[in-house]
Amino acid sequence: MNTYYSAIYISKAIIPVTDIVINDILTKSRSNNQQKGITGYLYYEDGYFMQYIEADKADTLDKLIAVLEKDRRHQIVNCFNTSHTGNKRFFDWSMGQIDKNQLINLNLEQQIINYMKWLKGLHQSIDVNSSKICSMVDLLSSHKEILQLL
Ligand SMILES: Cc1cc2nc3c(=O)[nH]c(=O)nc-3n(C[C@H](O)[C@H](O)[C@H](O)COP(=O)(O)O)c2cc1C
Repeated sequence: MNTYYSAIYISKAIIPVTDIVINDILTKSRSNNQQKGITGYLYYEDGYFMQYIEADKADTLDKLIAVLEKDRRHQIVNCFNTSHTGNKRFFDWSMGQIDKNQLINLNLEQQIINYMKWLKGLHQSIDVNSSKICSMVDLLSSHKEILQLL
């Protein structure tokens, strides 16, 4: 069984986030991530990003997190790392975009907002209930094919 490493974080945007900003982030992410075997999704809503990233090596993920921490377009509020066995959840998304309207169409928006609130309020020092984090990522990955088409 493969092991892969993942992280999910919430960050607060510190510049006005327009479609152009999001597209720039996605374009750069997709070309960089493809070379490094990083996959995941990016979600933006109401001044906050929520990104999920996964890689085969912990080091690959740590290096990206170090880059993200220095990016002055946002400030990371909380970041949680976990490892898993099996196949990467978003193995075919070098960086998928999930947008608010897609979640509204799927009736998932409120659930995701609630998860984001919960993630924002967590403190690194407390024991992370990672199964709850995983269930959110699982929820989104189970809609992956539809999200891609919407
Ligand atoms: C919310 C957010 C998410 C990002 N996600 C990624 C990512 O998944 N992969 C990536 O390489 N860069 C990502 N970036 C951009 C990096 O912070 C950084 O600008 C970029 O990796 C620099 O790439 P370069 O050294 O090739 O110019 C993200 C930036 C923001 C603000």
